[in-house]
Parts: sequence; C-alpha cells; structure tokens
Amino acid sequence: MQSYLAGRDMITTQEFTTDELNTIFEVAFDLKRKRALGESHALLRDKVLAMLFFFSSTRTRVSFEAGMAQLGGHAQFIDHRTTQISHGDTGKEIGEIIGRYCDGIAIRQCDWGIGNDYIRGVAKASRVPVLNMQCDYYHPFQGLADMLTVFERFGRDLRGKTINVSYAYASSYQKPMSAPQSLILLATRYGMNVRLTRPPEFKIMPDIEDQARDNARESGGSFEVLDDFDAGFSGADIVYPKSWGAMLTTTDEEESAEIGAQYTDWITDSRRMALANDHAIYMHCLPADRNIEVTDEVIDGPHSAVYDEAENRLHVQKAVMALTMR
Ligand code: CP
Repeated sequence: MQSYLAGRDMITTQEFTTDELNTIFEVAFDLKRKRALGESHALLRDKVLAMLFFFSSTRTRVSFEAGMAQLGGHAQFIDHRTTQISHGDTGKEIGEIIGRYCDGIAIRQCDWGIGNDYIRGVAKASRVPVLNMQCDYYHPFQGLADMLTVFERFGRDLRGKTINVSYAYASSYQKPMSAPQSLILLATRYGMNVRLTRPPEFKIMPDIEDQARDNARESGGSFEVLDDFDAGFSGADIVYPKSWGAMLTTTDEEESAEIGAQYTDWITDSRRMALANDHAIYMHCLPADRNIEVTDEVIDGPHSAVYDEAENRLHVQKAVMALTMR
C-alpha cells in the first residue's frame, strides 16, 4: 500500500500507480464505513478547499463541499463569473494566490481544447494540490467513483469481467467525453475486458485509446472498439452508455448535434439490457436525458446502480482530499 500521497495533484489517474489507486480505494471504503457508523473522521481540520467552477454542477459541487465539511474543513464555492478572471487573472495568478490562501484548489473547466491546459497551468503555479473536478479530457473523480461502485458489486478481482463504455444519444447539450475517457483509463488498469462502443463520428481521443491499450496489456485485460450499439451490450457485466459530443469530428456544437441526431436509436431500453448478462448493472454518471439516452424503466429498474455511483463520488473525493491535502 502506497501511503504517502501528500501534496499530489489529481488531474488524471494515469499519473498514479495501481498501488496508489488501490490506496485511494482502501481509504474510500474506510471513510464510507466510518460515515455509515457515524464515526468522526475530521482528518482535514482547519483546511480549506477552493472550488472554482467554469461550468454548472450538481453532484460535484455538493459532494466536494459536503466531503470537506465531513473531514473537518471548509470548501469555498467560486463561480468564475464572480472573479477577476475575465479581467486578467490568469491560471498563474489563480495557482499562486489561491494556493497561498487555501490548502487545495479544485477546478471544473470543460471547454474543449482549453480545460486541461488551464488546470495544468494552475497546478504549475500552485504550492497546494490541484484537483480536477472535470476538464475536457478527464473526469478522474467520476472514474474513481465508477470503479468503487464496480468493486462493491463484483468484488476486488475484476479480471474477466466485461464493461461496455458506450455512446448514447442525448439532445440536451454536447456533453464532454471526459467521463468515458477516465473510466476506460481506469477499467483497463484492473484486467477487465473493456469495450468502447460508439458511432464512427464519436471517436474518443486517440491518445486515450493508446493509453487504454497499454494499460490493458500490462494488467492482462483487453480493450476493443465497436460501432454497433447492440453488440456492445452483448454478454456485458457492466454497461455504461452515455452521450458525448463529436468533438473530434467538429468543434461546432450545432453540427455535432446534427450528427448526433442520426443516432436517436442509441437509447438504453429493456431490450438492450436483456442482451447483457443477467446480473449486469447499468451505470451513468448523470445527469442523463431520461427517455432519450435511457428509458425510465432501465434507469429506475433493478439493474441500475446510478445512485450508489453518485454517492460514491463523496467517498472517493474524501479519500483523495484526505490523502493529498494533509
Ligand atoms: N457526474 C457529474 O459530474 O455530475 P455534475 O455535473 O452534476 O457535477
């Protein structure tokens, strides 16, 4: 067990060894147990986390803020529009200055081609850990919560289990591809058979696919890419169909929406779930476009793990904060 993670940034899980990831999961399980028993775990008393949002949130904001309070510290919510960022404060200023006031800086900046660079720039200037609350490339805390949920349902040895990370149609907005990319990068660390299923216009980043292949080779798992929605479900233990934008095909959101409109039949329904294994679970990071991305029958049905998955955001985030911000 790698016990010393103090001072580390969490921008992508690829920058952590599997031993270090296992430490995060062990601590997350322990903190989840402590919360269930009502045991105090004020590991970050007097510490402050700044949470800088460039994009809206339900789960991320509430779970980070609740998590800091449960750890005995405080979280500050900062909407970028209420700062001087638009008047000249750069990532360097944010890292240098907020890093002197606070003990951690968490950032959500999902703009395509901008978010990850911005978070990296803040991290370079900051003396305290920088936590990626979602960028254009990665959503590491979502991926960690997803994996904690999978461990809870299937045990810690996931070798031979099949997870299908799939595109699904949504009409609400062109969602980032960061959640599926982070999940693929983590699932391939644990010897799973990982499927990426998407229409040809909805490719993920080639560099992420390369990293996933390398991970799978090292862990004894596999990584394959499919373009048939039904085939992705076939024989899967875990299905994770969610929408993302066609960013690698076009950076124009309207054009991306028009391309997506060809795939309105990529909706998870009971027939599709029946193609998966009997004990299969349905996962989604939420928010989902109900009855467009997934039917009510599935998301509210017996296979759905979405609320445990959302809860686990709290536990993995507390684990990473307790380990890195001490
Ligand atoms: N899954 C997720 O990140 O949810 P929010 O956008 O509500 O934070």
